[in-house]
Amino acid sequence: MAERRGSGRRRPGAGRPRAERPDRGGGWTGREFEVAVGPVAHGGHCVARHEGRVVFVRHALPGERVVVRVTEDRQPGYCRADAVEVLEAAPDRVERPCPYSGPGRCGGCDWQHVSWEGQRRLKADVVREQLTRLGRLDAADPLLTGLEVEPLPGGPLRWRSRARFAVDRAGVPGLRRHRSHDVVALDDCPITVEPAARAVLDRRWPGAGAVDVAVDSAGTVTTTRLDRRGAPTSTRVLAAGQDVPAEPAGRAGRRAGGRDWEVEGTGFWQVHESAADALVAAVTGLAAARPGETVLDLYAGAGLFGGALAPSVGDSGRVVCVEADAEACAAAEANLGGLPQAEVWQGEVDAEGLTGLLEELGDAPDVVVLDPPRAGAGPAVSRVVAGTGARAVVYVACDPASLGRDVAALAGAGYRLAALRAFDAFPMTAHVECVALFEPA
Ligand SMILES: C[S@@+](CC[C@H](N)C(=O)[O-])C[C@H]1O[C@@H](n2cnc3c(N)ncnc32)[C@H](O)[C@@H]1O
Repeated sequence: MAERRGSGRRRPGAGRPRAERPDRGGGWTGREFEVAVGPVAHGGHCVARHEGRVVFVRHALPGERVVVRVTEDRQPGYCRADAVEVLEAAPDRVERPCPYSGPGRCGGCDWQHVSWEGQRRLKADVVREQLTRLGRLDAADPLLTGLEVEPLPGGPLRWRSRARFAVDRAGVPGLRRHRSHDVVALDDCPITVEPAARAVLDRRWPGAGAVDVAVDSAGTVTTTRLDRRGAPTSTRVLAAGQDVPAEPAGRAGRRAGGRDWEVEGTGFWQVHESAADALVAAVTGLAAARPGETVLDLYAGAGLFGGALAPSVGDSGRVVCVEADAEACAAAEANLGGLPQAEVWQGEVDAEGLTGLLEELGDAPDVVVLDPPRAGAGPAVSRVVAGTGARAVVYVACDPASLGRDVAALAGAGYRLAALRAFDAFPMTAHVECVALFEPA
């Protein structure tokens, strides 16, 4: 059950290594052949067929003819391949702006070879495909046929304000090759904002396993060195020519929705510099909270959506932010300090915890906002949310597959998709952020 701040619980067993899967493929690794590239699929590749098998092709575009080289063949039904030669190019193909991307190189981006408009069309296709196949929506639904992935300000490069770079055994920073532990050394990462890229990539990090970097709204850069098991070992803050050691848990200042926010150095914040602003506008617009209403902000982080909705419900309303992480809860409390209608509850959002929280709350929520991690809320939590009878459920999703699964669960519990927006919060990658409004059917 969620509790008011002070006694969070942790899930046991997280982070256990997965057992090696047996190789059941067709022995095609290294083979080269020509294919006609079919539709885009979730995960940054397109689908082709060869000798009756599915080939997931990276570095290609739908409609192209390419020569592929098989990079991985472990499953009977499909293999993975890179397009190594383009025989007939699609109109959306462009020169890659990043010299480190391409077959066998840095695995950080998926769509460097695609125009920005083309990337957004591919992402819209992926959202449509996931919501019809997993969400069981009708492909002719105007919410899907009319879906456009909206660009965020700033263009497709230098948008990333937080990043984790890998470090090789010699202390050289870079990013990993696709589906590999190998580190590709980088002098630059053109999707990362310049000060963050420079702070990490202009030096060596002997003994480190990775480096986290974040730039806050004031331009202050914080780097955190991680050991080979991913544990933070030291933090430095670079601001106005200074380079000083800092507390690992130091807070960063962010601006979004017209106000300032404090976020734990290691806590969640949208990576795209403009994403928090865009999502606040989308969530508040779709929620349309009214004076006196009760709003539940699940997976609240530093209280971004709850804080943005609090003024709409006014002093007679109530906003309850629920978050598992103790440090994020502390930041949320600081952020919501001036809003007496807002409270922070620390606890796990799972079916049992949420049911207990709702009993303790007393008020049935009018609006529920959910912004879960990639795995999504899941069918059990979705059913509990639907059981509240809220007039609006606003679901923020960074994985359209998780959203698709939960669309089906919400539909089974009596909620229909009433509005859908999608944002290109991760240009050059295959990721896309969706904001969906559900209403009682
Ligand atoms: C995608 S972030 C969203 C944060 C916030 N809405 C924002 O936009 O800044 C997801 C948040 O959910 C929290 N979280 C993850 N699993 C959780 C769970 N089972 N129960 C409660 N919170 C959880 C994470 O700590 C993280 O702060």
